[in-house]
Amino acid sequence: KFYGFTPQQCREVTEEYNKEILKLTDKILELLSEGLGLEPNTLKSSLGGEDIEAEMKINHYPPCPQPELALGVEPHTDMCALTLLVPNGVAGLQVWKDGNWVAVDCLPGAILVHVGDQIEVLSNGKYTGVLHRTLVNKERTRMSWAVFIAPPHDKVIGPLTQLVDDDQSPPKYSTKTFADYRYRKINKLPQ
Ligand code: OGA
Ligand code: NI
Repeated sequence: KFYGFTPQQCREVTEEYNKEILKLTDKILELLSEGLGLEPNTLKSSLGGEDIEAEMKINHYPPCPQPELALGVEPHTDMCALTLLVPNGVAGLQVWKDGNWVAVDCLPGAILVHVGDQIEVLSNGKYTGVLHRTLVNKERTRMSWAVFIAPPHDKVIGPLTQLVDDDQSPPKYSTKTFADYRYRKINKLPQ
């Protein structure tokens, strides 16, 4: 029995999800801008305004006979600006907090939001990208749907000038295109 989506249905659902995700992104970026004491549109416009990108990745973690010997994903921070994540109800995501790995609860209907590297850079470290990893499960397949919100590749990202001054708060991060940042992170080069 075929119970999945047809390509046409998949397209419709994805387009609608994208619209809602972009609305939520706008709201979160406004609140994060205000949290920095800046105009609500600051972060969005620094990330390319209407050219901001949303990239969906579907993670699939099959059951693992010896879950204590493996990880789903190694510890990392996301290199985008924000990640909006929906897991399938199987626990496994952990965040690094105060020196411990802390399990993230599966709340039905919740969208998990990660602050990524580009928000850390723009805020000059006032917000920090969340270090996270995933475990695998002995019996159950875990899946998660992640949307990475990121600037266009050629967008130049650095600490916001409003947050930087030479004496009190010098820039903690270098300024470069998102493409350059990605290249360095993927190839483990210094930023
Ligand atoms: C990622 C990620 C976590 C998860 O895709 O960057 O961290 O819960 N996924 O699958
Ligand atoms: Ni991640």
